[in-house]
Amino acid sequence: MQISIKNSTPVFCSTGRCYDSADGDSLGCNSWLFRDDLDWRNTAKYEAKLFKDKDKVNIEMYAASDGSEGYTKMISLYEHFGRENPEAAEKFFPIMAYDIDNEILKAAKSGLLKTCLADRMSIQMYCEDYEDYFGPADKKIDIDNDIKLQAEKTLTVKDKLTKNIKFMHGDMFEKIKELKDESNTILMCRNILGYFLNDKIEEFIKLASEVLKSNSLFEIGDHDSKFFNIKSCMERYGFKQVMKNVYKKV
Ligand SMILES: C[S@@+](CC[C@H](N)C(=O)[O-])C[C@H]1O[C@@H](n2cnc3c(N)ncnc32)[C@H](O)[C@@H]1O
Repeated sequence: MQISIKNSTPVFCSTGRCYDSADGDSLGCNSWLFRDDLDWRNTAKYEAKLFKDKDKVNIEMYAASDGSEGYTKMISLYEHFGRENPEAAEKFFPIMAYDIDNEILKAAKSGLLKTCLADRMSIQMYCEDYEDYFGPADKKIDIDNDIKLQAEKTLTVKDKLTKNIKFMHGDMFEKIKELKDESNTILMCRNILGYFLNDKIEEFIKLASEVLKSNSLFEIGDHDSKFFNIKSCMERYGFKQVMKNVYKKV
């Protein structure tokens, strides 16, 4: 890991957990709903079209954090296909979501989500009826070392979402080697590569290029290109940028 992001956690996140890693770095992991580095609506539209002839699409998510990203992806696909056609979205599910942090995994598996005001505004903006996906909770989620949010509220995540995502422990550098692709994969590995040294980022991109076949997608986040020219590295390994932070295997 090359940088510390302690104290740089945005205040508009559903989780912003700081902790000390085994090698002495202080690390932060943050996530929130509809993280604004992807055009969620148009990406869902693009994916629906790209995979229209596939019976099944596999979403493999590394660094899944508290579930905010997985829920956002599911909501974007459900909303794209509309309430009258949920089956069309469900060929993309279940999302296989991995993280190495057991504390954040416990939160993800709890069926609860800690939200700030911006999280709740985004679900109102992006959903026809956000009560399809979230409801009130009678208890507060407790995540060790997590940031205190203004106007914090814990929500219950409804079955429509929880039944379609499997949260599991897994290291992305190992899981990527096990990935089996039939040109029907969406690999989401967002806002984690940027924490690694450049040769490690390249190592992961190379592994991804070896397992992903033509037409499959690799989605990253803004943080991944902050200190590294990820676009040129992606291109060297056979990926072409098709939208902001979305790459397609050529
Ligand atoms: C900054 S958060 C990003 C969360 C989410 N992907 C997003 O963009 O909002 C980084 C997450 O990566 C996880 N992580 C760190 N190293 C990992 C690894 N080698 N394999 C899987 N997850 C990892 C952390 O535990 C943390 O939850």
